Amino acid sequence: MRIDALSIFPEFYDVLDLSLIGRAQRDGLVEIVRHQLRDFTDDKHRTVDDTPVGGGAGMVMKPEPWARALEHVLETAGSAVEGSGDGSRPPVLIIPSPAGEVFTQRTAEELAGAEHLVFAAGRYEGIDQRVAEWAGEHFEVRPMSIGDYVLNGGEVAVIAMVEAITRLLPGVIGNPESLTEESHADGLLEYPVYTKPAVWRGRGVPEILLSGDHARIAEHRRAEQLRRTRRERPDLYARHLVAEEQAGRAVR
Ligand code: ADE
Repeated sequence: MRIDALSIFPEFYDVLDLSLIGRAQRDGLVEIVRHQLRDFTDDKHRTVDDTPVGGGAGMVMKPEPWARALEHVLETAGSAVEGSGDGSRPPVLIIPSPAGEVFTQRTAEELAGAEHLVFAAGRYEGIDQRVAEWAGEHFEVRPMSIGDYVLNGGEVAVIAMVEAITRLLPGVIGNPESLTEESHADGLLEYPVYTKPAVWRGRGVPEILLSGDHARIAEHRRAEQLRRTRRERPDLYARHLVAEEQAGRAVR
């Protein structure tokens, strides 16, 4: 997979060189190319923002540097991305925004199947709307929010999305079983986990986990998942009940 990440602070993306994603890059499983948006300006001050048309607070990112940067990505990635050229899918352009579609584990799974992802992190009050419209001629454009709160810019959202997507690529996580057992993999929160010692500061682990009875342990963990999801995330629990009912399974 090829990822291009654009920003006026591309240094934010340096954290992607650490840990598992750093290793995935070194192993050639993913290539992450960073771009400084200011390199695509043509004035002395390398200006990327301007006042909002129609008035209002803050500044808006100018469209031209973004268009040039994205054209550069298309030109340089064209030959680097497998299967690119006539007839292939366009790259996916993800524009982080609190006004976008909510990014979930399902989105991560879907995007993990793409050849080429481009992330355009805006600052200030956002990017001139015409960039997304123009980009639709060359990319599949996806404005994406990582939750109902406001960040100072899109970079932290990009890091979160890149991590959620790339850890699903084959070979990135040593034991692929851990992907199926975690929160959200099956629409429920994960069960609580424990390690040794069996009693720590007077607190024991649930007795059943010491029994060696794998069927009963699996049953216990499933019950814990349901209990936790019902308590912490009634929205997910309600969705789970509907899905179970549709699948014709008895709801406990
Ligand atoms: N930019 C600012 N806030 C954001 C959010 N919640 N998600 C994605 N991008 C953002």
